[in-house]
Amino acid sequence: MARIALVTGGIGGIGTAICTRLAKDGCIVVANCHPSEAATAEAWKRARAAEGFDIAVFAADVSSFDDSERMVREITEQVGPIDILVNCAGITRDKTFKKMELAHWEAVINVNLNSVFNVTRQVWEGMLERGFGRVINISSVNGQRGQFGQTNYSAAKAGMHGFTMALAQEGAAKGVTVNTISPGYVETAMTLVMDEGVRNSIVNGIPMRRMGRPEEIAAAVAFLVSDENSYMTGANLPVNGGLFMH
Ligand code: CAA
Repeated sequence: MARIALVTGGIGGIGTAICTRLAKDGCIVVANCHPSEAATAEAWKRARAAEGFDIAVFAADVSSFDDSERMVREITEQVGPIDILVNCAGITRDKTFKKMELAHWEAVINVNLNSVFNVTRQVWEGMLERGFGRVINISSVNGQRGQFGQTNYSAAKAGMHGFTMALAQEGAAKGVTVNTISPGYVETAMTLVMDEGVRNSIVNGIPMRRMGRPEEIAAAVAFLVSDENSYMTGANLPVNGGLFMH
């Protein structure tokens, strides 16, 4: 039977590639978007349909526990129980620390890290009961090595992998795996907003001398959520063109 996959931040750059890849691989895919993106999401859904993918979109603010609970309840009723969760929703509010305000800090921690609790908490018990589940947290190279101007983002992204390692232990004996993927710099709207000079200097420092493509992140997700990956859990898979090795 086809697995049901929920991708938070599913209409973003990396999220879109993950949705279409999992659909290609035979999953029933549900994309989450923020309520403010409802109009964009309609166009997104039509574009995916034109490519041959029928992907439902459910709007919810994943930084809210209650809205996440409502969304997962509706998906469960209308589509079915979630077997695969990809926590991909994320934002940046880059500022040097001396200029960082509480609002910049809280926005990034709430959307990038608290959302992981808010959504995973809704699907976890079902996965344990059914004896199968896959949770993927999309972190970042900057959670592994830190980045100038990203104390908020680096903290949230490092926190995601701490969560992965702890939760992986709770799911390991029950058929539920939890893994992190840490992308490097990927060609999406998020990296496009960076100052061009800063972006070029970052690309020059990447051993492969180019940014990643969203499809290259989606390929790693596809492996980790597959039945073929039956023994990797609590891992942090780097997909970064060689930018950071450890
Ligand atoms: N290391 C050391 N010093 C640096 C630096 C660096 N990487 N970058 C800038 N500086 C220095 C400047 O030379 C300047 O020094 P002086 O004050 O001595 O002249 C100083 O920092 C500038 O400080 P400001 O507070 O004025 O910084 P700013 O407002 O000009 O820019 C910034 C700050 C917006 C954070 C900018 O540095 C920036 O965009 N950095 C890149 C952040 C980044 O990589 N974001 C990733 C976004 S994509 C993403 O996050 C996806 C993912 O997972 C990879």
